[in-house]
Amino acid sequence: MQKILIVYYSQSGQLEEIVAQFAAGLENTTVVIEKIKIEPIEPYHFPWTSERFFAAMPHSVLGIPTTLKAIKPAHSQYDLVVLGYQPWYLSPSIPTTSILMNDNLKKIIANTPVVTLIGARNMWINGQETVKKLLSQSQARLVGNIVLIDRHNNYASAISILQWMLSGKKERYKGIFPLPGISEKDICSAKTFGKIVAQHLETGTWENLQQQLVTSGAVEVNSTLMFVEQRAGKLFYLWAKLIETKTDKTMWLKIFKYYLIVALFIIAPVVLLLYRIFLKPFTHKSILRKKKYYLGLT
Ligand SMILES: Cc1cc2nc3c(=O)[nH]c(=O)nc-3n(C[C@H](O)[C@H](O)[C@H](O)COP(=O)(O)O)c2cc1C
Repeated sequence: MQKILIVYYSQSGQLEEIVAQFAAGLENTTVVIEKIKIEPIEPYHFPWTSERFFAAMPHSVLGIPTTLKAIKPAHSQYDLVVLGYQPWYLSPSIPTTSILMNDNLKKIIANTPVVTLIGARNMWINGQETVKKLLSQSQARLVGNIVLIDRHNNYASAISILQWMLSGKKERYKGIFPLPGISEKDICSAKTFGKIVAQHLETGTWENLQQQLVTSGAVEVNSTLMFVEQRAGKLFYLWAKLIETKTDKTMWLKIFKYYLIVALFIIAPVVLLLYRIFLKPFTHKSILRKKKYYLGLT
């Protein structure tokens, strides 16, 4: 019997649903699947208050872990470990960073194939770069990355997801915004990706798994979002560093909140227009190179 460990965090249950679909694709008579849900000792309550939502930014971005309840895996070694996670502020969520720094998990993932399974709004590439680093520090072998996103317009989904996070209600805000989160159809597609991973687990050949996942649409890179995320990631880092030095964090987090609104809805559209006219047409090769890199695992 082959053993699979799925470690994941989820607040609203969205990632939990993705994990359930993915696990259904993996299931067959020759595998045993064990699931562990990451639980911070001080939980991040859902729904969020606005204050708590923005207060999570500095530690998410700076990779400062929180204390987790002890995990008790049934075995010390697995044939495959699946890490289900979500980005917070273009970084791995704090519970995800924390589990990747957990000594028990670090021992388990050393020299073990790992598949990352992401459930995001639409900006995950920076977070995955951090996860890649943390996995490699533990000598884990990243063999596949699956990313499910909210496919609605970037501005509309920013509002609808924030509304969902702050109200706990997964509904069409004011009847005009799209339904927040990853579509049911896309969540169900995780089962197909689970089946692809199962085939590779059976043969023990991981080399071309990511290529097959990419061909099957398990992960896509949007060049405009990639452009935004790369720049925003650097700015978030500067904000996080600045806020961490302040004694009155509440005031600075409020300033960050207004900065974010202005940056997202006023600055970004102008910058993107200029990017599309003056930069994008002349940087095709570099865009393709970067896309290929983010679709890959190294
Ligand atoms: C504090 C916070 C920050 C988030 N930041 C991002 C982000 O930078 N990029 C992104 O694509 N999604 C972001 N999201 C959405 C999450 O990645 C995720 O899709 C959502 O929280 C649902 O996941 P759940 O299963 O934990 O409920 C954020 C959510 C929260 C709560």
